[in-house]
Amino acid sequence: MNKKIAVIGAGHVGATCSMYLAEANLADIVMVDIIEGVPQGKGLDLTEAGPVRGYNAKVFGTNKMSDIKGADIVIMTAGLPRKPGMSREDLLSKNADIIASVAGSIKKYAPKSFVIVVSNPLDLMTYHMQKKTGFPKNRVLGQAGVLDSTRMRAFVAMELDVAMTDVQAMVLGGHGDTMVPLPRYTTVAGIPIGELIPKDRIKEISKRTAVGGGEIVKLLKTGSAYYAPAAATVDMCRAIFCDEKKVLPASAYLTGQYGIKDIYIGVPIVLGAKGVERILELKLTKGELKSLQKSAATYKKHLEFLGYK
Ligand code: APR
Repeated sequence: MNKKIAVIGAGHVGATCSMYLAEANLADIVMVDIIEGVPQGKGLDLTEAGPVRGYNAKVFGTNKMSDIKGADIVIMTAGLPRKPGMSREDLLSKNADIIASVAGSIKKYAPKSFVIVVSNPLDLMTYHMQKKTGFPKNRVLGQAGVLDSTRMRAFVAMELDVAMTDVQAMVLGGHGDTMVPLPRYTTVAGIPIGELIPKDRIKEISKRTAVGGGEIVKLLKTGSAYYAPAAATVDMCRAIFCDEKKVLPASAYLTGQYGIKDIYIGVPIVLGAKGVERILELKLTKGELKSLQKSAATYKKHLEFLGYK
């Protein structure tokens, strides 16, 4: 293949991304992790699945960051999960350290790459990644909105017993408690869901979307979601490689849109060969705008904790 994607972290999300990427025949894949043997083992296992699954992508696992050399896209999934007794701030600074060290290697070995951040806390880690790589802002973005909206799409489809692929949804804001699902912009084959689902059920669906990650964590007990996060990330890689100009929500750098600036947060973007090609500004209601700005204000505080003014 003439394209290369580096996946940092060979845990649940990283390995599942690699699997979907291979099946999509998008690029050769290099998976990097600090645990010896794990990326190598998973890489080989995925390669061995190729003849049966019908893909030719090479999947290579390694512990050396230098092996990401020349990658066109880097997917950042490395990070630590929150452990008992660990505060959110502890987790934030530990994951920020991981981002900083990986960013240094990306800058060195894949200086022309697009970077898609998946590690949490998403919007903050994406901001940190952009700062630490110094890459243009159109080349660094965070995967969250595609995940949040695919969850909402699935819930709407389940509610109405219709094809999931017929449902479109829009979710803005930070990837966390403050996200802003937008039922007004959610449709089934173009029909606004307000015409198909009673108000109280729409409220429930929005609420379930906002705590969608937590619902999976509760069920799994150890670890968090990985199939839908990985699927969402692969969708974004395809949009870049195929110059799809796909309209999707993602964590992007704002310069005054929605009255917010100098922050990464979930907004609708046009994703193509130049990365984040445009940010779309929707006409939000006062309430929706307030929720989005509130979400941004929370992140500003956390960025200050990371040393950004
Ligand atoms: N370089 C490379 N890999 C690293 C590094 C590093 N500096 N630090 C940690 N890792 C690896 C771990 O060894 C582990 O294999 O990152 C991997 C993370 O995998 P999991 O613990 O399985 O976590 P996962 O479920 O994949 O989630 C990864 O994505 O959705 C987010 O919240 C989630 O931030 C988390 C991330």
